[in-house]
Amino acid sequence: MNQSINRYLEEVLDRRKEQSLYRYLQVNDNLVDFCSNDYLSFARSSVIREAISQASKADQLTGSTGSRSISGNTTYAEELESMLAGFHNAEAGLLFNSGYDANVGLFSCIARKEDTLVSDELIHASIIDGSRLSYAGRLRFAHNDAGDLEKKLQHVRSRSTNQAGNIFVAVESVYSMDGDIASLKEIAAVCKKYDASLIVDEAHATGVFGAQGRGLVDHFGLEDEVFARVHTFGKAIGAHGAIVLGSEALRNYLINFARSFIFTTALPVHSLIAIRCAYEQLMSDSFTTDYIHKLIAYFKRDFQTSGDVFLIESTSPIQSLVIPGNQRARDISRQLQSRGFDVRAILSPSVPVGKERLRISLHMHNTMDQVGELKQALNELLFA
Ligand SMILES: Cc1ncc(COP(=O)(O)O)c(C=O)c1O
Repeated sequence: MNQSINRYLEEVLDRRKEQSLYRYLQVNDNLVDFCSNDYLSFARSSVIREAISQASKADQLTGSTGSRSISGNTTYAEELESMLAGFHNAEAGLLFNSGYDANVGLFSCIARKEDTLVSDELIHASIIDGSRLSYAGRLRFAHNDAGDLEKKLQHVRSRSTNQAGNIFVAVESVYSMDGDIASLKEIAAVCKKYDASLIVDEAHATGVFGAQGRGLVDHFGLEDEVFARVHTFGKAIGAHGAIVLGSEALRNYLINFARSFIFTTALPVHSLIAIRCAYEQLMSDSFTTDYIHKLIAYFKRDFQTSGDVFLIESTSPIQSLVIPGNQRARDISRQLQSRGFDVRAILSPSVPVGKERLRISLHMHNTMDQVGELKQALNELLFA
């Protein structure tokens, strides 16, 4: 074997270490969870676990055996798609194996060479990757700034011959790193004015916002203004996979052109059962998200900041405390971990330089006391 290639890899990794950018995998089983996306605690719900085991039949295949287009399609998958489309008030939906796959599949095939993809500057990596795989022109607008979006759309419309190309605008309804909420009404109005098709990634809103967790497009009543929505199941739903919601035409288009749908083995039925059971929990009369919203309010109340350390304004379970500098943010996260709190630092270039942070996520399984203790520890580490 050629050893020089491994030496090359080690050199690249050493450079990352020197820049405090080295990623490593950690198992922090015994720490209090302030970093997972299990906002509603569904991944650890004994009610959902029991429902999944009741619904799983002994004679079920353990794998899906192929792609949806060949042997991997099931009545269960099709019924789940109809159920989820109905719940989210959409015409149709198509399941993908993950949110990453959904965005890569959707964005890579929806826009052609003559089209333009315009996305928020903080858009998720999966949308960036999908957009790169398309041959469309790409533009970014200032974060959550409908005015800047309008300028960009004006610019695109003014240069395109006969206004032929389609324009797609991509936003997240809750931003994954900042936790803030998109100005969806304003953005939808601008899209309408310039005949642009709006695509909303609802990854972090699913389950948390909107009636019974239907998301923010539902909350603002914008279903008819949005061309496509992506709901993921690996976060508040506590499972795995994603669905792209939109028209029947969009569903059929994706079946035909989305490569991350076509060229992969479908999710097995036991994964689909987990998604269905979690949604049934959302729909049950007893379920409410009141506690998570109380916890968020408690976390923010009298939160102490000073100098260059500040909390990004957010009403979602994602609360980001900016502590500029990779080393500094990482040091504080390590000290929190040694005190029993699983808080992770998000470093540049994943976030802009100077906006390195602790991304603190709150969950139904966090107690008020744990949140109070975390705030106290942060005070001591940052300001004592
Ligand atoms: C906004 C957003 N979209 C998509 C994804 C990808 O979803 P998944 O984890 O299901 O691949 C994520 C996850 O990090 C996300 O934050």
